Amino acid sequence: MLPFLKGKNNEKQNIALQDVQLPEHVGIIMDGNGRWAKKRGLPRSAGHRAGAKTFRTITKYCSNIGIKYLTVYAFSTENWKRPQDEVNALMGLFKSYLEEAISDFKDEDIVVRFIGDRTAFSPELQELINENERCSADRTGMVLNIAMNYGSRDEIVRAVKNIAQQVEDKKITVDDINDNLISNNLYTAGQPDPDLIIRPSGEYRISNFLLWQSAYTEYVIMDVLWPDFTTDMMDSAIIEYAKRNRRFGGV
Ligand code: IPE
Ligand code: IPE
Ligand code: MG
Repeated sequence: MLPFLKGKNNEKQNIALQDVQLPEHVGIIMDGNGRWAKKRGLPRSAGHRAGAKTFRTITKYCSNIGIKYLTVYAFSTENWKRPQDEVNALMGLFKSYLEEAISDFKDEDIVVRFIGDRTAFSPELQELINENERCSADRTGMVLNIAMNYGSRDEIVRAVKNIAQQVEDKKITVDDINDNLISNNLYTAGQPDPDLIIRPSGEYRISNFLLWQSAYTEYVIMDVLWPDFTTDMMDSAIIEYAKRNRRFGGV
């Protein structure tokens, strides 16, 4: 049984991935690590470790099947509210993963970028973030956006401030403000909007992820905890997406 919620999505699917049009840009809210650990009587940090392994597997898989952009939500602007030991464990995990990521995504030719306010991280972590971007900038494969200390409202506030400053400096006028200008002042400037956002863990909410960019994104909510998410489930989500009739307000 596929892990979609709701009856309709649970129909057995006989469609292969090769037969469907792939989304160009996929977003994933990597949620459910804590519950995964709790179910096993383990500390939440063990769930984050397991989730990080899934992240690596799914990222490589997305690149291999031909996804052009993948944006993963790793840490939100609100996640600092968590107990200090959990935040510390996450920062430790980011450090070891970002150290490995410098070479890890090389074979797949993955371009690594970060979205979010990186200045809140330790200088050491910021250096690893910059180094990952630097060493992957010339690659030509899938673009992987890692959302860390990312919040869509924060992103929009920054864009508004930026644009207001450009008006104040007389570089643009108020009449120059339009959809495109706002998109180009977001962290995702120059990238297509996500076609599909997947949320494992069964929660029906956006949690401050890509609010502006997801105006017409298809959502697939799956009743599986992120560490248990498999490549077959990725296929299922894409096939579910391919069955949707996207109208963008038209008929
Ligand atoms: C997602 O898993 C990882 C982060 C938000 C950093 P959670 O830690 O939110 O797991 P649950 O939702 O409590 O199960
Ligand atoms: C969203 O998950 C953030 C990440 C997965 C990084 P949360 O667990 O923080 O979201 P809520 O609290 O369930 O809305
Ligand atoms: Mg959660």
